[in-house]
Amino acid sequence: MLAKLTSLLLLSTSVHALPPSLDIRQASSTAKAGLAWPNGPYNDIDQYRSTGKVQWYYTWSPSPVPTDLEFVPMLWGARQVAEWSRTISDTIRRNHVTHALGFNEPQQAGQSDLSPEDGASIWKAQIEPLKAQGILLGSPAPSSAPSGKTWLLDWMKACGGWDGSKGGCTVDFVALHWYDVNSTAFIRYLEDFHDTFQKPIWVTEWACQNFNHADQQCSQQDIVDFMNTTQSFMDNTDWVERYSWFGAMRNLSGVNQWNALMTNDGHLTTLGKQYIGAVTPNISSDPKPGVVHGGKGDTSGPIIESAALKSTANTVAIIAAASAINTLNDLFTIGLM
Ligand SMILES: *[C@@H]1O[C@H](CO)[C@@H](O)[C@H](O)[C@H]1NC(C)=O
Ligand SMILES: *[C@@H]1O[C@H](CO)[C@@H](O)[C@H](O)[C@H]1NC(C)=O
Ligand SMILES: *[C@@H]1O[C@H](CO)[C@@H](O)[C@H](O)[C@H]1NC(C)=O
Ligand SMILES: *[C@@H]1O[C@H](CO)[C@@H](O)[C@H](O)[C@H]1NC(C)=O
Repeated sequence: MLAKLTSLLLLSTSVHALPPSLDIRQASSTAKAGLAWPNGPYNDIDQYRSTGKVQWYYTWSPSPVPTDLEFVPMLWGARQVAEWSRTISDTIRRNHVTHALGFNEPQQAGQSDLSPEDGASIWKAQIEPLKAQGILLGSPAPSSAPSGKTWLLDWMKACGGWDGSKGGCTVDFVALHWYDVNSTAFIRYLEDFHDTFQKPIWVTEWACQNFNHADQQCSQQDIVDFMNTTQSFMDNTDWVERYSWFGAMRNLSGVNQWNALMTNDGHLTTLGKQYIGAVTPNISSDPKPGVVHGGKGDTSGPIIESAALKSTANTVAIIAAASAINTLNDLFTIGLM
């Protein structure tokens, strides 16, 4: 609640007091950790709340699940416009929504796949109007392929800037995804986005995952170290406002399964307990960024895309399939690695 009030106060400051050129909102420093939650009302989301570290969630959609965690609706892309426009007003009112997220990996085929121009016009019709209700708006979240930053810059141009009062697309914070295996590169990437866009950052998907070399994935220990370094960095960096790991689900859709925060039977993994701060992570005595079990790390961004789940129906099918599998090792054998 305090965090929400703080955000609203910050909002009114940025709207009324600062000239547009200085409209740089300060990030709040609490309530950063969240859940990217594709599981619908299944798998008891509230088990992630025991420590109070996790404070919010999103579902890659405008639809919440039953929980008291703060819900952040997302307009995933063009195909969710009908659902969004039908439900968003009620959702804002019922869930006391204070923040909303834009498109999912707009520059990726297979993801929301929008031209900057289409992205600007859908934004102005569907998302920008939330501003009048005091909602803080998160940019479309590009994947960490090099095309991601380019798309965001092109979209800013197509919008006519990021100042809604001048007819542009209001962006209160920049959302992004990142997949690779080097925690130093992750930190550099966030710093570059912050330097470029001068907005608070939300990392709405990240994991230790090599999309460039499928045979060079992080070991379980690498992931413990990687999560510790990256999460500590974000917890201690005031311009990183929120983050959500990929992910809290049984089947990570092709992302290295050691990143799972949820077991096959729907409970917290040890990594899940680390994420919520319930256990002290057993980090290496000398953790190294970019050291990958069985091969060398790759410093370039993923050239493919994230594994964001695309619809609830799809998710239910995946969960059903995953339930038939008994152990993590089976998942590896089946070909996630
Ligand atoms: C990272 O590990 C250190 C050492 O165990 C611990 O003190 C710190 O709380 C961890 N950070 C996070 C975000 O878990
Ligand atoms: C996990 O999801 C992928 C689709 O992303 C699917 O191909 C695979 O069969 C699933 N694995 C299990 C064990 O259900
Ligand atoms: C921590 O990790 C080390 C090295 O992998 C291992 O030897 C040790 O038993 C672990 N400690 C705990 C408490 O799990
Ligand atoms: C990790 O990333 C940093 C920053 O990009 C780079 O300097 C370093 O060489 C990388 N380490 C490995 C092992 O790839």
